[in-house]
Amino acid sequence: MSLHDTLRWQGELTATRHDPQTGASFVIRISSTSLGPAAGGTRAAQYASFADALADAGKLADAMTLKMAVSNLPMGGGKSVIALPAPRKDIDQATWNRILTLHAENIDKLKGNYWTGPDVNTNSADMDTLSETTKFVFGRSPERGGAGSSAFNTSLGVLAAMKATAAYRGLGTLDGLRVLIQGLGAVGSGVARLAADAGARLLVSDTDPARMAWAQQRGYTVVGVDEILRTPCDIFAPCAMGAVIGTDVAAELPASAVVGAANNILADDHAGAILRERGILYAPDFVANAGGAFHLVGREVLGWGRETVEEHTRGIGDILTEVYTLAESSGITTDLAARAVARTRLETSRAETAA
Ligand code: NAI
Ligand code: PHE
Repeated sequence: MSLHDTLRWQGELTATRHDPQTGASFVIRISSTSLGPAAGGTRAAQYASFADALADAGKLADAMTLKMAVSNLPMGGGKSVIALPAPRKDIDQATWNRILTLHAENIDKLKGNYWTGPDVNTNSADMDTLSETTKFVFGRSPERGGAGSSAFNTSLGVLAAMKATAAYRGLGTLDGLRVLIQGLGAVGSGVARLAADAGARLLVSDTDPARMAWAQQRGYTVVGVDEILRTPCDIFAPCAMGAVIGTDVAAELPASAVVGAANNILADDHAGAILRERGILYAPDFVANAGGAFHLVGREVLGWGRETVEEHTRGIGDILTEVYTLAESSGITTDLAARAVARTRLETSRAETAA
């Protein structure tokens, strides 16, 4: 996407900064504050261009708006992207600390209109570092008074989404189903354990050899990174990066359902329609992966205890069933149906504010 195109994004605010000393560039995008202050994690990654970083932050921020709205949480949507000068693993601690401190200064200047949290390549220890400069941070370690990692609760939510999707798709329970997981990181490894406990047969893939060795030890069937999209399964679970399913992949994917944690799984608007035509039931990512938001916002904003967080997280299954029913009765994709549910909440809130 060109820089010109990405600046035409329809969100509320874009803030950027570049640090010549480290070579890092920073983006914060606030998609919407209609339901409350914007919230969304900090993603650290390398990007081919600054325009790509801006575009990613915008798409991820929009997904957070939809996630909060569909989950009935009192927050808006935003996201941060730190465009790194080198792979995260090659950045030394002093440089990383400087990057985090600058990012925290940027967040602080937004005065609470944007709250961050962990995302790909950032964790609770990084949230602790950010919190030395700004208070607008979710997911600090419990020793520092935060809710800690959101990963396990995200996995719990994905499992609830898998159960509801399997039932709606007529596959029954997870017992005996082939669940194919792409990415065995913080969330994907939890999904693997929970799905295996529920009786699923696990097929897994990760680019990290250490993760593959972990999977082999647990007796999961390991699939090559390049073979994953051709591997027959009942449920395909993208739990790594987004844009996994474009038009071409949707036309060939040998699965009955797609339920994963990755944000922005569909690479283009048409992919959802092709999945629908082929009878592949797609769990919209911003519904299925809301367990992390329930954990962070539930614990740190709403004062929920662990049980209440888990109860709401299991409710992801009910939200999905409502979305599937609406999609079927309206003859639209599940992605569009979930967006309609979210939009209804956003419009109701705007009407209440105006009254
Ligand atoms: P992570 O960084 O811990 O794990 C990602 C894993 O995917 C790593 O093991 C990595 O080696 C692997 N990977 C990367 N590219 C791959 C490829 N092409 N094929 C196979 N494996 C590949 O990240 P985490 O926290 O587990 O998040 C995963 C996804 O879930 C991300 O898209 C994130 O935005 C999303 N998400 C995470 C939440 C959380 O609470 N952590 C909440 C909601 C969504
Ligand atoms: N990054 C995670 C997500 O995409 C967790 C998160 C939720 C971070 C809410 C901040 C705020 O859902």
